Amino acid sequence: MTATVRVTAPAKINLHLEVLGQRSDGFHELAMVMQSIDLADQLDCSNSADGLIQLSCDQPGLSCGSDNLVMRAAELLRQRSGFNELGAHLHLRKRIPIGAGLAGGSSDGAAALVALNTLWGLGHSQDHLRAMAAELGSDMPFCLAGGIQLCFGRGECLESVPAAAQSLGVVLVKDPTVSVSTPWAYSECRRLKGDHYLSNEEAFAQRRQDLRAALWLNPLRAAEPPPLRNDLQDVVAPQTASVQTALRLLQDLPGQLRTAMSGSGPSCFALFPNRLDADQALDAARDSFAKVGLDSWSCSFVGHGAKLTP
Ligand code: C5P
Repeated sequence: MTATVRVTAPAKINLHLEVLGQRSDGFHELAMVMQSIDLADQLDCSNSADGLIQLSCDQPGLSCGSDNLVMRAAELLRQRSGFNELGAHLHLRKRIPIGAGLAGGSSDGAAALVALNTLWGLGHSQDHLRAMAAELGSDMPFCLAGGIQLCFGRGECLESVPAAAQSLGVVLVKDPTVSVSTPWAYSECRRLKGDHYLSNEEAFAQRRQDLRAALWLNPLRAAEPPPLRNDLQDVVAPQTASVQTALRLLQDLPGQLRTAMSGSGPSCFALFPNRLDADQALDAARDSFAKVGLDSWSCSFVGHGAKLTP
């Protein structure tokens, strides 16, 4: 068995988030395109002989108890292994803002599956890990696979994209004092848009097909920037002042291609032709973001999810 392992857990942004309708299990049926970015947490794990699974974190505000997806992933993996005596110490370095719509918690949980599968020498296949990830959260299979993926169902059904999008630059902003509850965002979506939801599998299948065929995901037109769509933005932005401010400032950045909120928010991002352009735009605008209370980052697209690092 390996003594210690380190796993990188990248954040994601939504290039497309379309709410199709309500499912009988209470979740929403979605059609999404998600993209990993190089803003990442880091999870270090080592074996412990005491049979305990313990988590610590460099961010004091974050719960390290059984509600943390890292702990839930570790417990599930141990339970499925049948070796109840397995223990581990896990330490999380948080860089991805919490409650931001960037899947930071889900990515940490995916990282725990990757790390402990290696540390404990369990040898589960990627498919097996993905099935466990889907039990833990809708975004977790994506966080395991990473890169760019079409995500259907609750978000857990992944399909590869016909043509990888260009590697664009990203300027990302978030007010550190604001977080959005994902269940709240979806319930507001149902309240405000429920009358227009699609209501049968045939209609869902048609929308999935439309997204697969979208021009910007097509090999011949892959150089086009993603149009960006987020149905949750329409319900979250009007009720969240920091999202409105963020979108306004991002839209004003010279050279930006498109701007949108990510996931259920409140983080928002602008796309640029490349990382250098994003870096330069952020250098020029960092003070104006800070003045209105927004933290800011420049990032790149990355082609992987939670992964072991040397
Ligand atoms: O799967 P996850 O635990 O991340 O979902 C959190 C919450 O977000 C769910 O309990 C549900 O309220 C909402 N949700 C939804 N439809 C989805 C994904 C999430 O309604 N496809």
